[in-house]
Amino acid sequence: MRIDLSEAVRHLQEGKVIAIPTETVYGLAARYDAPAAIEEIFSLKKRPPLNPLIIHLSRAAQVFSFTSTLPPGFLELAAHFWPGSMTLVVPVDTSTILPQIRAGLPTQAFRIPDHPLTRALLDQTGPLVAPSANLSGKPSAVCPEHVESDFGLDFPVLDGGICSKGVESTILIWDGEKWVLGRLGALPAPCFESILGYIPQEMGREKTPLCPGQLFRHYAPKATLHLGGDLAMVKTLIGFTDRIYPKDVRVLYWGKSTSPEEVLHNLYTLLRRLDEEGIEEATIDMQFPQEGLWITLLERLKKAASAA
Ligand code: TXA
Ligand code: MG
Repeated sequence: MRIDLSEAVRHLQEGKVIAIPTETVYGLAARYDAPAAIEEIFSLKKRPPLNPLIIHLSRAAQVFSFTSTLPPGFLELAAHFWPGSMTLVVPVDTSTILPQIRAGLPTQAFRIPDHPLTRALLDQTGPLVAPSANLSGKPSAVCPEHVESDFGLDFPVLDGGICSKGVESTILIWDGEKWVLGRLGALPAPCFESILGYIPQEMGREKTPLCPGQLFRHYAPKATLHLGGDLAMVKTLIGFTDRIYPKDVRVLYWGKSTSPEEVLHNLYTLLRRLDEEGIEEATIDMQFPQEGLWITLLERLKKAASAA
């Protein structure tokens, strides 16, 4: 069910869960102080309770409701990248945030999304929790149709069209000394160097703090994905519009081999299409650079293809 801004505000104030657009992916939103709605988010998504939620803000200064001391670089990163596809995880005053939002951790993830409708919404509702609006483990939703496919046609969706980025935010976690990469995402790691003076690196899995969501199988269609291989032997291929493939192969195109932005924008729609069309197996053309945003694509594909 598509709803407008005023209906969205009303639903949230009444303690309901709705889907909201962002520039990355759609989110399943609830007020941060509505425990029943937060519980419903976890049960709707079938999300493990160990996986914490991001709080979405409309102004960076709202973080001071949750902590009085911020790590070095926080305000500079916020001023430069918000609104935008960066999520920052910092220690908080745990009495100010329900433990189920944080999955019991002493830290909290924050982001200001860059979508005009959702920013107008946040201005009226205050902080909202919102995980991606998909069933846990499945590809994220980048348009209202994807949300409806996972949660039903009656589920309320604030219709903000197709997400411009189409892939989740990049997560930076303060580890007590420096910012580390919790999740690759729509902003490539090197873009933070101009603000931090260094490129945030990925954390080893054995180390804390770690991004709990990264432990779970993710972004995966029902179809089996093969990452590369002999492209002449395959039935269905996901490939680039500017390449020529063997003529008997059915190709689903995700964009040009020169544009990781375009490929990421189309990624989840294509992965969902495999299931919509009942395709059981697809092979991916893996001939792309191992740098910049392509690394985010590679990470999503590895997770989507993993059987674990
Ligand atoms: O682009 C996005 O970030 C989207 C839109 C809706 O904002 N949201 C999103 O939420 O991707 P979700 O819940 O699907 O992914 C959030 C990730 C999870 O991997 C979770 O483990 C991690 O953020 N996370 C949340 N709080 C954390 C914390 N306190 N410490 C470490 N990781 C945290
Ligand atoms: Mg998610």
